[in-house]
Amino acid sequence: MAEHPAYPVGLRLTGRRVVVLGGGQVAQRRLPALVAAGADVLLVSPSATASVEAMADAGELTWERRRYADGDLTGAWYALIATSDTEANAAASAEGERRRVWCVRADDADEATAWTPASGHSAGVTVAVLTTDARDRDPRHTAAIRDAVVEGLRDGTLVAPHQRTRATGVALVGGGPGDPDLITVRGRRLLAEADVVIADRLGPRDLLAELPPHVEVIDAAKIPYGRFMAQEAINNALIEHAKQGKAVVRLKGGDPFVFGRGMEEAQALAEAGIPCTVVPGISSSVSVPGAAGIPVTHRGVAHEFTVVSGHVAPDDERSLVDWASLAKLTGTLVILMGVDKIGRIAETLVAHGRSPDTPVALVQEGTTAAQRRVDATLATVAETVVAEGVRPPAVIVVGAVVGVGPHGTV
Ligand SMILES: C[S@@+](CC[C@H](N)C(=O)[O-])C[C@H]1O[C@@H](n2cnc3c(N)ncnc32)[C@H](O)[C@@H]1O
Repeated sequence: MAEHPAYPVGLRLTGRRVVVLGGGQVAQRRLPALVAAGADVLLVSPSATASVEAMADAGELTWERRRYADGDLTGAWYALIATSDTEANAAASAEGERRRVWCVRADDADEATAWTPASGHSAGVTVAVLTTDARDRDPRHTAAIRDAVVEGLRDGTLVAPHQRTRATGVALVGGGPGDPDLITVRGRRLLAEADVVIADRLGPRDLLAELPPHVEVIDAAKIPYGRFMAQEAINNALIEHAKQGKAVVRLKGGDPFVFGRGMEEAQALAEAGIPCTVVPGISSSVSVPGAAGIPVTHRGVAHEFTVVSGHVAPDDERSLVDWASLAKLTGTLVILMGVDKIGRIAETLVAHGRSPDTPVALVQEGTTAAQRRVDATLATVAETVVAEGVRPPAVIVVGAVVGVGPHGTV
């Protein structure tokens, strides 16, 4: 049987009986895909792993707690034979042959009438890999090829432009804090498929260098806006390019909806009738402290964290932040866009009850090669920022968590 290559095929199992013999690790690995394919799964096994049992309890399959018996494959379209009893496996295999049921065998691939490919999914396709030479089956090799293809499709390094359905409209992509590895898989794929990318200063700018030459990259900060407000000019650029039928990515730093004006862009696109997808990103508010060894919460130290914008001073009438209330909280305060105003912010927090000794850390250009951390207290932070020349972008963390990590004292 082994001298010809296997013939690849996709089984459409919805509502069709699939018999699984044995409830161990092999069944545990294969059952989720069979259930996802809509198969009517009958599991025959005296015992099962906890996960397989949970699937039976959830009604995802029927479990008969007994050993294999001749006749179990009656009515089956497909079978997975994976008991620990070689004789039972051979008997079931023989029954499959008799009844013309395709059977996978976990213990003896040579005796099997079907093989399970190494498979994975990405971007609406299933990738399934089998070795061509039946005498040279190497599951590790096929799994490695599967991983390379799936990973390539996910991160956009493998693009099949003619096969893909191009995303039309605009994707508002959260690019994460700056390290190019910290964008989401979906964001990276959309970036690889884009015709036009409108990018902020913050975020994973290194990724722009990897884009093919035909991709138009526009620096959002340099869009000429004349009589318009800057945001309006960006909205218009998004709309104009999308109207030309181009796949447009608006690449933003962090998450689009954390001080990112993402919803303003989404609303403008909706008003213009342009389809818009929002891809979340890793916000600097959590990831930048983390990259500098500061957890925003820590058991027994902080049970809450609050993220605030410090772009206007506490006494500025435009401020929407209730600094007096924040001063009374015991948890962590994470301040974005606060470098210029940190002196006034620290004074206000102390005036409303926070201890002047409260630890403060400023993390500049977090997750990039230029990352640096400067520590202070509420009493000293204003002078420290000047003395150390701390510049935006920086995330400022106020609270006992600053002292928790290896740098700290808690
Ligand atoms: C307009 S807000 C955008 C926040 C972004 N949407 C997010 O979720 O991270 C810009 C502020 O985010 C912070 N920030 C963003 N990226 C940063 C980084 N890599 N290092 C330090 N701070 C960063 C700074 O406080 C900066 O002034």
